[in-house]
Amino acid sequence: MERKFNTRAVHGGEYTDRAIGNVTTPIYETSTFLNPNPYPDAALDHTRNKPFMYTRWGNPTLEVLEIKYRELDDVQEALSFSSGMAAITSTVLSLVKSGDRLLSLKELYGETFTFFTKFLPMYGIKVDFVSLDELNSGTIPVKGYSGIYTESIVNPTLGISDLITIGRVAKEENIPMITDATFASPYNQNPSSLNASITIHSGTKYIGGHSDILLGLAGFKKDLMDQIWSKRKMFGSVPDPIQAFLAIRGLKTLGVRMRAHNENGHQIAKFLSEHKKIDKVHYAGLETSKYYEIGKRNLKGFGGMVSFEINGGVEEARRMAKKLKLFAYAPSLGGVESLLTLPAETSHLSLTKKERQEAGIAEGLVRMSIGIEDADDLIEDLKNALE
Ligand SMILES: Cc1ncc(COP(=O)(O)O)c(C=O)c1O
Repeated sequence: MERKFNTRAVHGGEYTDRAIGNVTTPIYETSTFLNPNPYPDAALDHTRNKPFMYTRWGNPTLEVLEIKYRELDDVQEALSFSSGMAAITSTVLSLVKSGDRLLSLKELYGETFTFFTKFLPMYGIKVDFVSLDELNSGTIPVKGYSGIYTESIVNPTLGISDLITIGRVAKEENIPMITDATFASPYNQNPSSLNASITIHSGTKYIGGHSDILLGLAGFKKDLMDQIWSKRKMFGSVPDPIQAFLAIRGLKTLGVRMRAHNENGHQIAKFLSEHKKIDKVHYAGLETSKYYEIGKRNLKGFGGMVSFEINGGVEEARRMAKKLKLFAYAPSLGGVESLLTLPAETSHLSLTKKERQEAGIAEGLVRMSIGIEDADDLIEDLKNALE
């Protein structure tokens, strides 16, 4: 019988040095390794099937993280990176060359959008953007593209990519689908099972889970290992073993935390949707959301990200944010503690006002990352701040 998610999360990939008998994986804080390794039973680095040589190439603590993640996200191979952006830039640059074109979404994480609009074109790579609804329709012509890049839950308006449809089209045309599934986490979705060739996570978020690390992960088909690994080695976009250790620890409780995030996210979204001061709630888990059915088909849970627009706009949003006691007024997401931010001031600050408008981001949009606190306490805090 295949082991279930939480069992794999706790035990997957863990490494016991028989000479020591350690129960948890150690932090191998070493930049270099004996080369050649004279021991006949030297462990092999999964990136090359040779003994470890240099930490920018591979490291045992990173390897345990990569194997644990691989088992949880149902991908054939995986590599860890120094941040989510390092995972995105390193994997995309391993797929495209000058003259290539990518198809992507108007609604993207701000820094990814900047990478696509300001950086790639300087090297002769063009990115075409369509709206989430257009991509979900499955009718956009995709022939000639070197890749289709999506986010499984888009940031910060929280629409859902219909990966079942997009993945089918990508497969039919033999085009790799690359999916940033940070907001879903491997607990709520495994994009590889919906035909994603590459799945990306900012491990800084739900995977780390405690707002104390920066980390990225990419899971992909076996035949992509050499080309992605060689970029990680060249760019040096490899994480420190301590960050990898903390991500291993985070992954062990991912399932337990995600259940709480899913449940709290739903309760908070429902409370806000019934509050007279709130104009609009973005949360696909509400049956009234136009993404509800798509989400049901593509996700196991809707997660803990909730966005809303408040009556009174930016000024009222700032006033309310400052009155909250349990929500820290800070960007980022996916930690055990609840956070709140105005994307126009943080994650999407690098976009022009017009670009934000095109991505459906109202200037006063508030994005919340609902933590694992008790929902009643969070609701009470919101109620008081909205008074
Ligand atoms: C959806 C998404 N992808 C990627 C990133 C980038 O991750 P990192 O900050 O770890 O580089 C973020 C950061 O907020 C994000 O929200």
